Amino acid sequence: MFSNQSIAITGAAGGIGRAIAEKCIALGAKVAISDIDKDRVEQTASEIGATAFVCDVSDENSILEFIVGAEKANGPINMFVSNAGIGMPDLPGGHAAGGSNESWEKSWLINTMANVYASRALLPDWIKRGEGRFVVTSSAAGLLAQLGSGSYTVTKHAALGFAEYMAMMHKDDGVNVHCICPQYVKTNMTKGMKVVDEGPDRHIEASDVADALVAAIEKEEFLVLPHPVIGEYFQHKASDYNRYIGGMAKQKRHIQLGEVPNLKEN
Ligand SMILES: NC(=O)c1ccc[n+]([C@@H]2O[C@H](COP(=O)([O-])OP(=O)(O)OC[C@H]3O[C@@H](n4cnc5c(N)ncnc54)[C@H](O)[C@@H]3O)[C@@H](O)[C@H]2O)c1
Repeated sequence: MFSNQSIAITGAAGGIGRAIAEKCIALGAKVAISDIDKDRVEQTASEIGATAFVCDVSDENSILEFIVGAEKANGPINMFVSNAGIGMPDLPGGHAAGGSNESWEKSWLINTMANVYASRALLPDWIKRGEGRFVVTSSAAGLLAQLGSGSYTVTKHAALGFAEYMAMMHKDDGVNVHCICPQYVKTNMTKGMKVVDEGPDRHIEASDVADALVAAIEKEEFLVLPHPVIGEYFQHKASDYNRYIGGMAKQKRHIQLGEVPNLKEN
């Protein structure tokens, strides 16, 4: 499917990024992976047969250097997966605006602006070539919410908004955009969280996200929902906003600050 394609992925030292890299390599791609964690990304690259780069996605120049390096290694990029992300809790304030300005600003740069920086570097050439594929890793929190983290909720909504905007602005240029919105996935990000192991809200494997992305690419679907039930929750939200807010407020009563809701309990 990706035979000889040049694919670049950020935040891929482990977790979802690594799983997508492994899947793309299995499907014939030449993959460049990057991460802020030099040792882990180099180790991962040697394990899976990718080329490693160090890149801090909150820095536009660092993304540019990654893109230049990936193109030198594997040729003009066919698909860019903007995957690096962070989640920071509302603490220490303990209310919706309680997170520090630093945590909001960092989340804004990494979860939202990184998508702008990468696409700014790639789009001119893709428009000229009449092809290109950009993948934004948002979250179910981008469609709904992550209780306990306002900065994650808001910056993942913004990432989804930018993915939608890019998709509509460049459909006629031959550029395809996908936005991945998973609920809980077994990676470092959810280590120690209380998440159900069964049912539609279950804690899935990172490889399930990679499989869902490939299936969405095959069907040219914008929204990638490794947990299909999130599509239903999103429809409920759109059809009755008051009920949605009420339901989330009820869930919030069941969780301690800094803890993640177990959706099955509500
Ligand atoms: N795990 C989940 O439940 C879940 C659910 C929905 C969405 N996501 C999203 O999936 C993406 C991947 O996360 P994951 O679950 O694999 O977690 P993860 O923590 O394993 O992976 C995130 C990677 O991003 C890297 N990173 C952090 N800051 C960076 C920066 N400034 N520049 C470059 N790399 C940086 C980390 O070193 C790490 O390797 C994130 O965008 C996350 O928000 C995760």
